[in-house]
Amino acid sequence: MTDQLYTAKQSELEELDKRHYLHPTTIPKAHAEQGPKLTFSEGEGIYVRDLNGETYIDGLSMLWNVNLGHGQQELAEVAKEQMTKLAFSSSFAGYSNEPAVRLAEKLAALAPGDLNSVFYTSGGSESNDTAFKLSRFYWSLKGKPEKKKIISIKNGYHGVTIAAQTATAIPLFHDFAGSNISDVFHANPHLVNCERGDKSDPHYEGSIRHIVEKEGADTIAAVILEPVQGSGGVHVPPEGYLEAVRELCNEYGILMIADEVICGFGRTGKMFGVQNWGVVPDLMSVAKGISSGYSQLGAVLIKETIRDVLVQYDQVLAHGFTYSGHPTACAVAMKNIEIIERDQIVANTKNMEFELQAGFEFLKDKHPTVTKTRAAGLLAGIELYADRDRGLPFHPSVLPSAEVVEECFSRKLILRALSSNVGRNIVAIAPPLIINKQQIEDIITILDDSISVFEKKFC
Ligand SMILES: Cc1ncc(COP(=O)(O)O)c(C=O)c1O
Repeated sequence: MTDQLYTAKQSELEELDKRHYLHPTTIPKAHAEQGPKLTFSEGEGIYVRDLNGETYIDGLSMLWNVNLGHGQQELAEVAKEQMTKLAFSSSFAGYSNEPAVRLAEKLAALAPGDLNSVFYTSGGSESNDTAFKLSRFYWSLKGKPEKKKIISIKNGYHGVTIAAQTATAIPLFHDFAGSNISDVFHANPHLVNCERGDKSDPHYEGSIRHIVEKEGADTIAAVILEPVQGSGGVHVPPEGYLEAVRELCNEYGILMIADEVICGFGRTGKMFGVQNWGVVPDLMSVAKGISSGYSQLGAVLIKETIRDVLVQYDQVLAHGFTYSGHPTACAVAMKNIEIIERDQIVANTKNMEFELQAGFEFLKDKHPTVTKTRAAGLLAGIELYADRDRGLPFHPSVLPSAEVVEECFSRKLILRALSSNVGRNIVAIAPPLIINKQQIEDIITILDDSISVFEKKFC
């Protein structure tokens, strides 16, 4: 194809995009006027290409989900094979299919503890809504229908369906379209002492424990949290936090839901995020990395004692999605997990975390603005401050993370600015888990150059 044809096709697509395509999590006015930032056309490994033939490093695995990287032929082949054989079948009314059953067995074997049953969805928001509904339903079957309230923690992102949006404690998403449900509370995050019961801690008010005591444990169905927060800023919890929340839930008879939508399937250097702290939740929401983004799939994993109650119900469980247990999606997920295990992707993630951390040390040494670097596997972030020693952010007219991310983009590295936090200064880095040492170095080199330009402009 000649360059001219490329250009013609691209401008046609841009016009059609502007006219007909309302994009998620995008500024509609800017998009309607300017069109797409770029139009992806191909991918291979950690790289993606656009219609102009420009190659970019996908430093965020797109939406933290393309864990095995782009252009994975085995996933494409298994999808074709399953589609040819049986693309879709219903899972309602007792119907079943082999890929869904095999995957359920595999997930039960992989998951920590006795999370041995699976309810399928088509994505993360649906998984969290499902986890809320199953929690409430469980308590209702146990004769406690008043246990309905959900507690999430601030900076948590749980999706955009109405219940998941309400639990999401990032104002930009939480407040959208005034769509919240009642009975959802946001606790202050990562207060280890308070969750352990230290009422003398000055931060006690607003902790999960404080909310439980104020509202009454007999009104609370579940606590939901990400093992490592993603979209809220890549916040790794302090040691002891997840264990303290687990203990608190045990103490008060509250279900613990781990939102593993980003953390699951190797992202944090363990198969599941909670395994970094040896915690077993009661319900676990997964999506994204379950299929490395090659098919739309999510699931809620359910522990035995909950399942034992649910399976006593002798009427219709009136919940489910058309695509619950989608055979093609499940076949892709099965192959995805097989490759993660065969190619020791989780071990690679941990090794590459060390490379990334070494790169972060270099950036901190060289750049006075860089601080608070962190990585749990390949779920990583850095922060930029005007005065890092005194913790002073840049003037509000400067958007440090957006500036650096744009500089990286112009050098063909895609990262994400997490800018709903005070100071708007977090840059997220989460490349595909198949990345190698040289490619990590390439990311650090681009970050180094980009931060230099940013510092020249604003320091
Ligand atoms: C932790 C977490 N939970 C839930 C979701 C929602 O998933 P989905 O966009 O597939 O509905 C996301 C999406 O980014 C997420 O990061």
